[in-house]
Amino acid sequence: MPESQHTVDEPKPAELDVEVTEADDAAAAELDPETIARRDAALRHVRKFGDPVLRARALEVERFDEDLRAEVARMGDLMRDALGVGLAATQVGVLHRVLVFQAHEEDPLTALVNPVLEWVSDELEAAEEGCLSLPSVHVEVERPARIRVSAHDETGAPLALEAEGLRARVIQHEIDHLDGVLILDRISRQARKEAMRAMREAREGAEGA
Ligand code: NI
Repeated sequence: MPESQHTVDEPKPAELDVEVTEADDAAAAELDPETIARRDAALRHVRKFGDPVLRARALEVERFDEDLRAEVARMGDLMRDALGVGLAATQVGVLHRVLVFQAHEEDPLTALVNPVLEWVSDELEAAEEGCLSLPSVHVEVERPARIRVSAHDETGAPLALEAEGLRARVIQHEIDHLDGVLILDRISRQARKEAMRAMREAREGAEGA
């Protein structure tokens, strides 16, 4: 998910479900050129919609070795540089069940290896999400408000965590990536059509520039 300024409440009316590029441009305008250059460089390493790897199911990690720790470190750097709040290995073309996230600036960067959703609340919450793999797409997605997850950290130590709000949302979004699921799959057909149009227009705009 890009744009850490996303909030988790305030569901919007249906007709505002999909925003197009203005939000991105406005956010970008406030960033200094160096941050933008770093973000754009990081985004070049992130697989975008249309790449079949985004639809693949990632495989359980079996070896907690130096390579895995290097992979996690690289993903953390890319996520931060891309100004994202979460990143799944799938998005960098690695079919490992690994994700990193940092929902709030004051949180530590956390890696989850082989994450499993152990429990989700019946209570759902709708909020806007973006995705580093879906440029210019911002859609309202409804998900369980609270979750319990088990996983391992990058050293192989077992982890159990409970999350709510943006953390719960980011973790679910990234676990979806590990199963080849995108936010486009979690919205109405109408919202998906608008999202596809926003992506197409952004791509055409970039090519025309
Ligand atoms: Ni994403």
